[in-house]
Amino acid sequence: MKIIMLGAPGAGKGTQAEMIAEKYHLPHVSTGDIFRANIKNGTELGKEAKSYMDQGLLVPDELTVKILMDRVSQEDCKNGYILDGFPRNIPQAEVLDKALAELGDKIDHAIDMEVPDERIIRRMVGRRACVSCGATYHVENVPPKKEGICDKCGDALILRDDDREETVKNRLNVYHEQTQPLIEFYEKKGILKTVDGTKDMMDVFKEITEILA
Ligand code: AP5
Ligand code: MG
Ligand code: ZN
Repeated sequence: MKIIMLGAPGAGKGTQAEMIAEKYHLPHVSTGDIFRANIKNGTELGKEAKSYMDQGLLVPDELTVKILMDRVSQEDCKNGYILDGFPRNIPQAEVLDKALAELGDKIDHAIDMEVPDERIIRRMVGRRACVSCGATYHVENVPPKKEGICDKCGDALILRDDDREETVKNRLNVYHEQTQPLIEFYEKKGILKTVDGTKDMMDVFKEITEILA
């Protein structure tokens, strides 16, 4: 099963992708997490990606597409995967489609998580992220058992550099201009499913599992 998570920054794509990954034993593939891991490790890719991410802009397709394609061609992705944060514009979606079509394959579900912009900022300011394993928390909604420490891997939690209010606003603009057109793109393919991302995260998860069942 191949799933795409769509939705604005802070809609809960990462939160739900992690839960789906656990339940269905599929790898959670997040381009944002891959970039952040590279930033943490000080790689060239990380340096280049950071210059875009800190402004709330998309990292150029030349970099992003190659990384994603390398990742999904690994052994653990052969029975499917959950894409979180990719594709983020029509050209990326077309590259993915074409690559899958060449293998006689396709995406099964594109799940759009709807959350209005005004809810997003509140979520981002309280978010804490683990750079080692990608787990996401919220100081009020989803606190870790021990403050500042990841429940899953024990590493330190960070406030993402791009979660400042100004940057979040830029990310929302980029989302509406470049990413939102994907909703129509997948609707035309007949694989779009919409969920209400403002609900409690377990209720959102329940809606998603009903779609995937
Ligand atoms: P990326 O890491 O993908 O960020 P994003 O899309 O902006 O999304 P977020 O991770 O901010 O939000 P999310 O939807 O995962 O929400 P979360 O589950 O954390 O990308 C970062 C940057 O990398 C981009 O800006 C770009 O520069 C670059 N990039 C990445 N992919 C790219 C690509 N394909 N092409 C080009 N550039 C790319 O939830 C948010 C918060 O809310 C958390 O604190 C969570 O605990 C809480 N929460 C979740 N669900 C609920 C709920 N139901 N109720 C209450 N709180 C909730
Ligand atoms: Mg995320
Ligand atoms: Zn962790």
